Amino acid sequence: MEFTPSKLGEKDVYKLLTGSVVPRPIAWVSTVSEEGDLNLAPFSFFTVASRNPPMLCISIGPGVGDREGTEKDTLVNIRATKEFVINVVPAPLGNSMQKSAENLPSDANEFAIAELTPAESHIVVPKRVKEAPIHMECELEQIIQLGSDHLVIGRMVHYHIEDEYYLGNYKVDLEKLQPLGRLAGNYSESRQFFKLPR
Ligand SMILES: Cc1cc2nc3c(=O)[nH]c(=O)nc-3n(C[C@H](O)[C@H](O)[C@H](O)COP(=O)(O)O)c2cc1C
Repeated sequence: MEFTPSKLGEKDVYKLLTGSVVPRPIAWVSTVSEEGDLNLAPFSFFTVASRNPPMLCISIGPGVGDREGTEKDTLVNIRATKEFVINVVPAPLGNSMQKSAENLPSDANEFAIAELTPAESHIVVPKRVKEAPIHMECELEQIIQLGSDHLVIGRMVHYHIEDEYYLGNYKVDLEKLQPLGRLAGNYSESRQFFKLPR
């Protein structure tokens, strides 16, 4: 099959993209609104944007369903407060992560809904997900509007990893971490790790 994206509907192109750029890591992003409401949502359009200084990026689409025509709370909050935390999602927290993705009103507290514990961050105001083993505190670097979406780039100003997930020498214990991946509408667990011969 051959496809020309400009001749396809938006949803079909989305299906091709999310089924082909796989598996994607999931940034579980906590923010706070100007009014102080806590917010938490997952974003799999997520990667490292720069090594030095360390920057991470997520891409946030427009509101959907009941929230069509509006911006997602995460984007509104980051634009307003210029801070966010990226929490890493291990497989056992998958259900809580999924709950935090529900389309809820802006003042809904996804920490409470997903039965998660907000923990103070070290530098930024948004809280960390206590149950998550890795937290990357970010200060907003840039928001770039790209077509329908907004690319949010943040500079990592603090990194935290639970001791039991830390192997030393700045290495993460990936077998213990069990990072969750996103493939189209499915999830994957990373169970096997191997090196390829050089
Ligand atoms: C695993 C997963 C990955 C997601 N990735 C994205 C993404 O990359 N970009 C996006 O705009 N929405 C993504 N979503 C949907 C948002 O999480 C969802 O719209 C959420 O309600 C937004 O919350 P907010 O309004 O509090 O920001 C994803 C949902 C799930 C479950």
